[in-house]
Amino acid sequence: MSVNDTLTDEEKLAELDLATLKQLVGLVEYDSAGDPFPVTGWDAIVWAVGNATQTAHFFQSAFGMELIAYSGPETGNRDHMAYVLKSGAIKFVIKGGVDPDSEIIAHHARHGDGIADIALTVPDVDKCVEHARAQGATVLEEPHDVSDEFGTVRIAAIAAYGETRHTLVNREHYTGPYLPGFVARTSAHRKRPGAPKRIFQALDHIVGNVELGAMDQWVDFYNRVMGFTNMAEFIGDDIATDYSALMSKVVASGNHRVKFPLNEPAVGKKKSQIDEYLEFYRGPGAQHLALATNDILQAVDALVEEGVEFLATPDSYYSDPELRARIGNVRVPIEELQKRGILVDRDEDGYLLQIFTKPIGDRPTVFFELIERHGSLGFGKGNFKALFEAIEREQAKRGNF
Ligand SMILES: [Fe+2]
Repeated sequence: MSVNDTLTDEEKLAELDLATLKQLVGLVEYDSAGDPFPVTGWDAIVWAVGNATQTAHFFQSAFGMELIAYSGPETGNRDHMAYVLKSGAIKFVIKGGVDPDSEIIAHHARHGDGIADIALTVPDVDKCVEHARAQGATVLEEPHDVSDEFGTVRIAAIAAYGETRHTLVNREHYTGPYLPGFVARTSAHRKRPGAPKRIFQALDHIVGNVELGAMDQWVDFYNRVMGFTNMAEFIGDDIATDYSALMSKVVASGNHRVKFPLNEPAVGKKKSQIDEYLEFYRGPGAQHLALATNDILQAVDALVEEGVEFLATPDSYYSDPELRARIGNVRVPIEELQKRGILVDRDEDGYLLQIFTKPIGDRPTVFFELIERHGSLGFGKGNFKALFEAIEREQAKRGNF
């Protein structure tokens, strides 16, 4: 079976087609026949937060997501609350502890608001786990069925960097809103008049921050255990400012729906942004999620309207003649990008527009990127220096630089 020419049920429900998705997230042709660990795409991003009720509200009011399912004390789950939110093809599951002894509360105490689980849809859970185990991965949950009146889900979990896990899900024989134990739920929240139908349609990539010296080990993990292939590599000078540096390599699932850049700190004159993350997250974890949008201008305007803060881009970025020459023509005048601080990068395949929020929680850890791709399969390498200088200005304000 070829995974590239099929849409996931979620993508179909989100009214996405292959051409759109190819542009949004840089989907590529791929034959899964020889893949030891075929991955169809993202299943859900599971967050552990200090207050799921309010975080779920934030993702609805600010990020335009829609509440679709819920689990909590009213449904028999006395341990925690979990809100399932959707935007386009992607689901966030926001969990917060109710029982003071809940593991979610312990997770939050260690890491602050963060991503506990990057769950992936796979066509064959058992095959993946068997391969992962043979390659030395830690199996956290053996393959098993969970069922309710909507059918059966086959599920398992393996350990990734830090305390992050990958739950592996096959929901081919399930029609419920999320998983057994969850009930369908909507919310009374209404979008502002004129707000876009969606801020983002899909998830492009999730960046993982790992300790100094551990990047290659995790690249090897995704290559060997999960059959991911290497994409662009950025090392040394590519991502150094005068003061701090990091190293980054990118791995992707066969169809490129799932892309994981992996960062480690590099030695610089001052504390790297990755070091700051590792200190405040208390170890490796997911650093940013890149949300794919087909209209980044509208998305940024809507987010700013709701009070979401972005990293500032200096005016010098837009007046730099070298950058202007490299960027060439993009779909909107540079002035429109400058007004909003949107960055541009171009490579041999096309260009991309991107912008980064400030950290969304109390700790300087997880944040979002918005990305609008026009052919480019890159990650904004040409922007790293300008971007990191902006991050360092924020780090300095926090006294961590
Ligand atoms: Fe990114």
